[in-house]
Amino acid sequence: MDKIKKDFPILNSNSIVYLDSGATTQKPQIVLDAVNEYYKKQNANPHRGAYSLSIEATRVYEEGREKIAQFINSPSSSQIIFTKNASEALNLIAYSYGLENLKKDDEVVLSIMEHHSNLVPWQFVTKRTNSKLKYMYINEEFELSDDEIYSKITDNTKIVGITHVSNVTGTINNVKKIIEYAHKKGAIVVLDASQSIPHMKIDVQKLDADFVVFSGHKMLSPLGIGVLYGKKEILENMNPFLMGGDMIEYVYEQETTFAPLPSKFEAGTQNVGGVVGLCAAIDYIEKIGYENIKKKEKEVVNYAINRLKELDYIKLYITPNEENHSAVISFNINGVHPHDVASILDANGVCVRSGNHCAQPLMRYLGIDSTCRASFYLYNTKEDVDILVNAIQKAYKMFEKYFKK
Ligand code: ALA
Repeated sequence: MDKIKKDFPILNSNSIVYLDSGATTQKPQIVLDAVNEYYKKQNANPHRGAYSLSIEATRVYEEGREKIAQFINSPSSSQIIFTKNASEALNLIAYSYGLENLKKDDEVVLSIMEHHSNLVPWQFVTKRTNSKLKYMYINEEFELSDDEIYSKITDNTKIVGITHVSNVTGTINNVKKIIEYAHKKGAIVVLDASQSIPHMKIDVQKLDADFVVFSGHKMLSPLGIGVLYGKKEILENMNPFLMGGDMIEYVYEQETTFAPLPSKFEAGTQNVGGVVGLCAAIDYIEKIGYENIKKKEKEVVNYAINRLKELDYIKLYITPNEENHSAVISFNINGVHPHDVASILDANGVCVRSGNHCAQPLMRYLGIDSTCRASFYLYNTKEDVDILVNAIQKAYKMFEKYFKK
């Protein structure tokens, strides 16, 4: 058994090959234990009680914020806002920043690769503000060309929304270049790091993005915890998104003053257990090291690409430029619906996602409805790839007879 895979109970107890980490990752024992211990020994409502247990829960929660700030090199922990996932963080930005700041004829520029979470909120906000929504399209190599970036981001652009890594094609976008150019044009940039941070180091100061969001569950932590990082001066000038307990300073019958950062954006009881799990996940990732994660993933993903390329009935939706490709392989078997393929793979113990991957505009642009998607993470092995390829061969055989008629 692979050394890393051993740390993941679900991969030991079930005879499955898990290739859906782009949707959510499995959790190592160390994360499960950390969450369990927290609920066994430290659970109380943070920021609420004057008693020791609540003070302890507050300490755990705020130390978690500190750790996450260090992990992404945020200048301060007050710029780390906990949300339930990346979608909530993106909605927060769209409502609290977009609705307030966009004016008629301003432009929001997105890539066609965006997940619905970084697209639908901007449709809503641009409609409400009479501003315009534009897209940067990908070329035949599933990448954004410089020409596309420089022609779409203009002096009228106020917000650029960009995914660091596409959840469909696995393309790694040159976000540093996009951010620099957007800033030159006076726009702010919202970076969706959901599919990148599990695989690569994110340094928010080096990238200079104005907002960065990600979900914990895609990087080994439990479901229900997400992170929003924002530049301080921008966050300070924004109104809260959700209102309620703990995000206030004083409440009068008709008026309320809001708490300072980060509480202003954290209404209601927060997911301390999720923060604990996320911190344990960060420890695990750092112990293995991004370099080692990348090395192992590259080996396994390249092996998968080469094996899939041997099958002449498979179409791959990935860039040929290896350095711009992460750990996601979308593919189709010619003439077979991806849902059928995924069901047959499932019958062979292989978990892949099929469908539009919450990226319908991208699918439409590519002229397809859906793909099968194998998404890899640090626990996957070449043996997993062999099982995947065998299952795909079986799936093709089941349908081949119909093609020959
Ligand atoms: N965003 C997740 C995915 O790509 C759910 O599968």
